[in-house]
Amino acid sequence: MRNKIKWGIISTGHIAQKFAEALAILPEAELTAVASRTIGKVKEFAEKYKVPKSYGSYIQLANDPEIDVVYIATPHTFHLENAVMCMRKGKSVLCEKALTINAEEAREMVRVAREENVFLMEAMIPRHIPLIKKSLKWIDDGKIGEVRIVKASRCARGEFSDESRILNPKLGGGSLLDLGVYVISFVFQVLGKFPIESVGVSHIGHLGSDEQGAALLKFDKGEIADLTFALRTEAVNDAYIFGTKGYIKLHDLFAVPTKASLFVNKEEVEIIEEPIIGNALNYEAEEVMRCMKKGLKESPFMPPDESIKIMEVMDKIRKPWGLVYSNDLKYKN
Ligand SMILES: NC(=O)c1ccc[n+]([C@@H]2O[C@H](COP(=O)([O-])OP(=O)(O)OC[C@H]3O[C@@H](n4cnc5c(N)ncnc54)[C@H](OP(=O)(O)O)[C@@H]3O)[C@@H](O)[C@H]2O)c1
Repeated sequence: MRNKIKWGIISTGHIAQKFAEALAILPEAELTAVASRTIGKVKEFAEKYKVPKSYGSYIQLANDPEIDVVYIATPHTFHLENAVMCMRKGKSVLCEKALTINAEEAREMVRVAREENVFLMEAMIPRHIPLIKKSLKWIDDGKIGEVRIVKASRCARGEFSDESRILNPKLGGGSLLDLGVYVISFVFQVLGKFPIESVGVSHIGHLGSDEQGAALLKFDKGEIADLTFALRTEAVNDAYIFGTKGYIKLHDLFAVPTKASLFVNKEEVEIIEEPIIGNALNYEAEEVMRCMKKGLKESPFMPPDESIKIMEVMDKIRKPWGLVYSNDLKYKN
């Protein structure tokens, strides 16, 4: 592999722009091309972020032989189609969360990655934040005893237009896939295993998507996770890991924290404080490049099989809500 890794970005939306900013601080990364459905938007993006090549269609970027890895930043409904298109052209892929709309799609994406022997990872920032990794070491060191309960919230109070992808069911909108995915993924990161029971409730808003929800997961040794996620609610987004001897608090915003506290006998006995470098997306980009340079096709910190499990849990949670996305119907028969 060449020294610099050449990135392409699919879409010019909100997070695509943040990702371009993230790559700019990584010396081993080169943002080579960006693609949009609209030529005007892509030209503007390319100029702003100094991207040498801009394409007015996604397939043109997938066909560019110079590109090593593609960051997919379209609404979740298009992740499978976009990722498969790139992987079939031999590109590695970093795909935004939620990896897909449902587990069936996730299995298909992972199947293609393995068939093409390319790297694939879901973009899940908390998996790569050094402060989170360090605070989870308190568990390995026995500081809180056995983990019994994990409690986490990932809520945003947004003003979204009816057309925005955030609440639009046609674009996979809703709090579970947008933010619930973080808290579910976090529990897996903490416990390193998958639940034996998963239930959830939600409020379905006027557009037909889940504006907010909660999930309870139970694990084999009786551990329980209590999770909330919302798109129109101001909340404190801490995470707690409660054990038999003490507990860990990842302070708001737990998914990109700058402070973690260890409590024993209700006293704060240790604190880790650390700034986030860049806008945090750089951590996941670094992990992709680390893996690619080593020839790894999967990251041990966010393995594709785990992304499939996360989608399975989300499928299970939303089934009783009657919330069916058009992508779900493709797998009905
Ligand atoms: N990791 C994070 O912190 C984070 C944060 C926000 C979002 N995300 C994830 O990133 C993805 C994109 O989110 P976003 O907030 O960036 O969305 P966004 O601002 O709405 O941008 C989505 C982009 O996707 C492209 N697109 C392709 N087909 C589309 C369609 N039919 N309707 C609308 N857009 C379409 C558009 O780019 P072109 O017009 O240029 O083709 C659009 O600008 C989602 O999966 C989301 O969950 C992750």
